[in-house]
Amino acid sequence: MKQLIIEGNKKLTGEIEISGAKNGIVALIPAAILSDEGATLYNVPDISDTKSLLDILELLNCPTKYANEELEIDTKRIENKVIKEELAKKLRASYYFMGALLAKFKYAEIYFPGGCNIGTRPIDFHINGFKKLGADVTIEGNKYIFKANKLKGAKIYLDFASVGATINIMLAAVKAEGKTTISNAAKEPEIVNVASFLNSMGAKITGAGTSEIKIEGVEHLGRGIIDVIPDRIESGTYIIAGALMGENLKVSGIIEEHVESLLSKLKEMGVDMKVEENYVIINKPSEYKPINVKTLVFPGFPTDLGQPISVLLTQANGTSILEETIYENRMGHIKYLQKLGANVRVNDRTAIFMGPSKLKGTEVVATDLRAGAAMVLAGLTATGTTTINEIEHILRGYENIVEKLQNVGASIRIKEDKE
Ligand code: UD1
Repeated sequence: MKQLIIEGNKKLTGEIEISGAKNGIVALIPAAILSDEGATLYNVPDISDTKSLLDILELLNCPTKYANEELEIDTKRIENKVIKEELAKKLRASYYFMGALLAKFKYAEIYFPGGCNIGTRPIDFHINGFKKLGADVTIEGNKYIFKANKLKGAKIYLDFASVGATINIMLAAVKAEGKTTISNAAKEPEIVNVASFLNSMGAKITGAGTSEIKIEGVEHLGRGIIDVIPDRIESGTYIIAGALMGENLKVSGIIEEHVESLLSKLKEMGVDMKVEENYVIINKPSEYKPINVKTLVFPGFPTDLGQPISVLLTQANGTSILEETIYENRMGHIKYLQKLGANVRVNDRTAIFMGPSKLKGTEVVATDLRAGAAMVLAGLTATGTTTINEIEHILRGYENIVEKLQNVGASIRIKEDKE
């Protein structure tokens, strides 16, 4: 198993350029198969989740060309095949093929999706949405089977503004007969990105980015073209790195309004930042004020930055509180922060930090993707050597994380299995 080795407590200075959004590309690739003529995607991040989705496209007989962040997908000879269990299990977003294949073929067989172990993560809202559109859904072993004679537009209300359900229902409805309304839709920027991509093919979607999305079904979808939006979670992770260890660290290629909730929390802590529309320059302050953070749906503070910001909370002068409201099991990294020397305790979905704590390098585990990001941030801050195990989780979502951090002065490297 590969490990990440970090010699911490080094100033970070220079520039980090943000890549395309992981949670954008993982929905855009399945969306691409809805086109009858193929698609071109720009700013595609080179992460292992992208590779897993390209393997699925190959299985579906959609050849791809991927170089220099540009992805060309040929959908003309697509075949409806069962997505193998080992492929579906590699990432949660394999579930977007449910909506896409159902819309395209009126039939899909897909194994249960994988993804980070951060809670029970049911997909009942997706399934209920497909049923409302006229699909028959059955479970056979570890596999869902979706069937429909025809899909018909419907009024769908989500009990919770789920990102996955909003996108999946949008995919399923885009070619349905008549009008679909998704009420209490999620408003995350990745949803707007997917809607723009589908509209570039000729779909008729309005309201993406608000809590009511309207979709007028169309029969045919032509060539799609899209720029993947910058990754707001990667942006946030490096901005937090700047708050921890930055000396004029520039994080560029961001969209300011996508990271607004984080920036406002950092200001509250007293972090020194120069914020422009598409970059931020960050300096570590001499002292951090304690704050309370509550994760919420967009535009609230993202749950995916809860674990990364927890490292900063260990450094604040006083008591800070992190409350996780989206997932029931997102505090798995706290025991490793404790191992690194943080004074923090967990009560169910709330973590209470009594800082500042001096972090000292030790051996830790990336229990999931964002927990892994938190371990990297902790390793950059700690004195001595931090060794992170199970780094495959991190590589699923952070493009060139080692090179990006080395370029700004971090001492970080991957130790291969055989070393
Ligand atoms: C997406 C993101 C993930 C992020 C999350 C919340 C992707 C690939 N992943 O995950 O990084 O943390 O949004 O911003 O884009 N729920 C149900 N039933 C459902 C669907 C969801 O109960 O059918 C619950 C979930 O268990 C969770 C909450 O709703 O507690 C939010 O889930 P959702 O917004 O759907 O997250 P994902 O799309 O899985």
